[in-house]
Amino acid sequence: MNVTPHTAMPVISVDKLRVTAQTDKGEEIDLVSDIRFTVQKGEVLALIGESGSGKTTIAMALMGYARTGCRIAEGNIHVAGTDVTSLTPAQLRAFRGNKVSYIAQSAAASFNPGMKILDQVIEPVVIHGTMTRKAAKAKAIDLFRELALPNPDTIGDRFPHQVSGGSYSV
Ligand SMILES: Nc1ncnc2c1ncn2[C@@H]1O[C@H](COP(=O)(O)OP(=O)(O)OP(=O)(O)O)[C@@H](O)[C@H]1O
Ligand SMILES: [Mg+2]
Repeated sequence: MNVTPHTAMPVISVDKLRVTAQTDKGEEIDLVSDIRFTVQKGEVLALIGESGSGKTTIAMALMGYARTGCRIAEGNIHVAGTDVTSLTPAQLRAFRGNKVSYIAQSAAASFNPGMKILDQVIEPVVIHGTMTRKAAKAKAIDLFRELALPNPDTIGDRFPHQVSGGSYSV
């Protein structure tokens, strides 16, 4: 009988993460420090904290990204078996939108105002070669229909400002 406990690798593991920012005086200050958590497959983790406490900073670090003037100064970040802080810029481009994605909290911030909706919905899978443009477009329209968006066949031809932000009417 096998009595070895099942110890699956977490999908996300963060250890001793520290993200810093450069002040106007040139000093480096901590935005977040000593952040540690793991997320197992199928688990959902919510980060809760007051505005400015560092939730977005931590989420962005999972993609190996820090905002302008900030940097990941310390820590181990593993996502889907990848050591995120060791990646080169080219490896980061292959990783983002493929193994890890970020969805901004407001629809206005999520969408690029200069691109048609369909083009940006299918952009990651087309860039990563996961699907052809034609197949991705068909799948996107299926999803628009499943979400009960109005005019699912053509809504993707609109720019973000040409659709309603939340209500059903357009
Ligand atoms: N580019 C930047 N340079 C320096 N400091 C920054 C920069 N961007 C954000 N910060 C600071 O980092 C800290 C953490 O911000 P962050 O956006 O992670 O907070 P948050 O918990 O996501 O807040 P909210 O609930 O408002 O979304 C804040 O003090 C913020 O002012
Ligand atoms: Mg935030």
